[in-house]
Parts: sequence; C-alpha cells; structure tokens
Amino acid sequence: MGAKTTIAVLRERASGEHRVAATPETVKKFIGLGAAVRVEAGAGASASITDEAYRAAGAEVVESSAAQGADIVLGVQGPEVDLLGGVNPGAWVAASLDPFGQRARVDAYAAAGLEALAMEFMPRITRAQSMDILSSQSNLAGYKAVIVAADIYGRAFPMMMTAAGTVSAAKVFVMGVGVAGLQAIATARRLGGQVSATDVRSATKEQIQSLGAKPIFVENVSGIEGEGAGGYATEMSPEYQAAQAELVSSHIAKQDIVITTALIPGRPAPRLITDAQIATMKPGSVIFDLAVSAGGNVEGSVADEVVEKHGVKIVGYSNTATHLAADASALFSRNLFNFLSAFWDKEAGKPVLDEEIGSAVRLTQGGKVVNERLLG
Ligand code: NAI
Repeated sequence: MGAKTTIAVLRERASGEHRVAATPETVKKFIGLGAAVRVEAGAGASASITDEAYRAAGAEVVESSAAQGADIVLGVQGPEVDLLGGVNPGAWVAASLDPFGQRARVDAYAAAGLEALAMEFMPRITRAQSMDILSSQSNLAGYKAVIVAADIYGRAFPMMMTAAGTVSAAKVFVMGVGVAGLQAIATARRLGGQVSATDVRSATKEQIQSLGAKPIFVENVSGIEGEGAGGYATEMSPEYQAAQAELVSSHIAKQDIVITTALIPGRPAPRLITDAQIATMKPGSVIFDLAVSAGGNVEGSVADEVVEKHGVKIVGYSNTATHLAADASALFSRNLFNFLSAFWDKEAGKPVLDEEIGSAVRLTQGGKVVNERLLG
C-alpha cells in the first residue's frame, strides 16, 4: 500500500452557501478507514462547526489550499478548478456539481485530468439511498418551506379555541409529493394545519393519506400514471394538464398556504399555478415555490424574494437546505461518507467504484467527459 489517501474539505465559495461537505463525525470515520483529512480553515464556520472541532476529530486544518496533495476533494457545490491546484493526478472531486448548469466547469475538470463525481446523479436504487443528497436535502427543504411560510403568514396554523373566540386552522395544500412534499405535509400537520396534497404519480395517494392529509387527484383522464424512470415524474399529456389546472383552480381558492415542490429531471419545473389562479386566493395567503431555481412552479415567483401579487405573498429560496446549514451539512456529509466508504477497498487504501454507481455519477475521467447524460 502506498501513501495514505488524502481527503480535502474545502470552504464553500458560492454566495449564500452555508453548508460544508464534512463534519467532525465524518472526518473521524474517514480517518477510521485509514485516510488523512485536510480541512480548509473556516470551512464549517457557517454550519456552526469550529476548526477546533475538526482538529479534535483528527483533521489537519490548513489556512489555504487544502487541495494540495489531495486524492479526493469534497464539496457541497462544485469548486472552481483554480481552487484545485496541486491535487494528485486523477484526483476525485465529489460534490453537487450541477452538471447541466455548469457544463463549462465540467469540461474544465476534464481538462485538468480530474475525476468529477456528481452526487446528484446518484441512481435511485435501494443500496444508494443512504448516499442520496437529493433526498437528504429535499427532506430538510420541505420542512423549511413550511416553517418559512408559517412565519410569513399573518395567522396561526392550528385551530385555537380561546376566550376571545376561535382561530380557525390554516388550510395547507402541497403540490408535488416526493421527498420534499412528504416532509412538508408532515410538518404542516405537526403545526396543526389542515392539509391536502396532489401529485401526478398515483402511488403518492396512499402516502398522502397515511400522513393524515387529503389527496386531491385528477381522475378519469388518460395518462394519469405519471411515473417514469427511477420513480421520477414524466411530463403529462395536454388533456391531463387541463384537467389538473381545473382541479387546482377550484381547490386553491380556498387555501391559505400552498407549498409547491414539482420537478421533472432534466426539464424546467412544470408551471402549476398561474397568476389568474393566484388572484382567486384570499389576501394574506402564502405560496412557497420550492422549484423556484428550476424555473418555478408558480407564475411570478422570484428566488430569494417575497413577491406580493393580488395580496398573496410568493416566496422561494434558490437554495433552501442552506437555511438549515448544520443539519443539512450533517446529512450531506454522511451521504458522502456512505458513498465513499461503501466502495472503500482495504487493500488499495482508497475507494474503487463499481460499474453501476460509478458510471452514473462519474462525469469526467482520463481527460474526457464520459457521462452518457452529458454526451447524449
Ligand atoms: P422530484 O423532486 O423530482 O419531484 C417532486 C415531486 O413532484 C414528485 O413527487 C413528482 O411526481 C411531482 N411532480 C412532477 N410534476 C408534477 C406535476 N405536474 N404536478 C404535480 N406533481 C408533480 O421527486 P423526488 O422527491 O426526488 O422523488 C421522486 C421519487 O423518487 C419518489 O417516488 C421517491 O420516493 C423516489 N426516491 C427513491 C429513492 C431511492 O430509491 N434511492 C431516493 C429518493 C427518492
């Protein structure tokens, strides 16, 4: 066995990014596998992790260029190539790399001889569940969306019977019941809201009911089984879209809070709420558009702004999970550890990916872009 595998943890540079890609817990576990870990000073500060905590876990904390001599660089978002000077040849960069949005950077990783691993391309198979950053971060985002909406809403969520009279429960409608939507339903229920939800995948109906919410579904329209590859949604037929719009219009006018989470992989987010529908809602209602950075489910939503239309406040964060930086970092870091440790080859003293997961997440290798989703 050669020198120890060195793992570098960089301080995130993207504006508004408060997460970090390793915690003292995962540092300790990497060291337990036989790796050395170098953490850039201040990397955990905005996730409430001190340099001292990393040192106590066994990491070397360096003032600059943690990437120097690294075999594996961990990030939340993809680092620019100029931060990766001095890495060992063929070093891995494992992060959320936004491969479609940051294509030029992917090409730069290839040109630099790096092996870029896009964590958002993790296949949705049972054994990869613990490595899935989309799930871990969406779950927290679904929770935060409800908390933020509740904060902006000028009324209470639970029904309250007081001496001064009764406060009625907030009506909450969740559109899109994937990982984020399920957590949004659970959170709104815990707060005492009266919750309903919809999705194009009919399999979600039972999940909605099991969380104590009311399913609102388009019935009797062909092509209603909106489930495509990997359990993701597909784009729906025009007939379905028209039926859905009609159903939503009559329901939405009675809602106080709407949380939208609908995404279709590789395509802009479907438009679920039009300005005309917003105009039917009561003044003071709140809509949280979790899909805002994918083009938005809601007409008029603007990332990181509270937009008021027809007396309705429309909110959406470009990066929702970062608003829960400590928990989001803990889960993201475990996803990365679970990924690398599952493939750790004791003999080689480093991870060796298998074909199924390796070919899914690997974007670049041997100086070239190799991922079929980028070549297609
Ligand atoms: P997502 O973030 O891609 O989309 C969110 C939700 O929006 C989905 O439920 C989708 O069906 C829905 N949607 C799309 N278009 C819509 C429209 N026009 N109207 C209403 N709803 C619409 O989905 P997410 O959260 O990533 O989950 C997708 C599936 O993958 C789920 O079934 C989930 O359980 C499964 N999954 C499997 C994993 C594994 O096996 N490793 C890990 C995580 C999720």
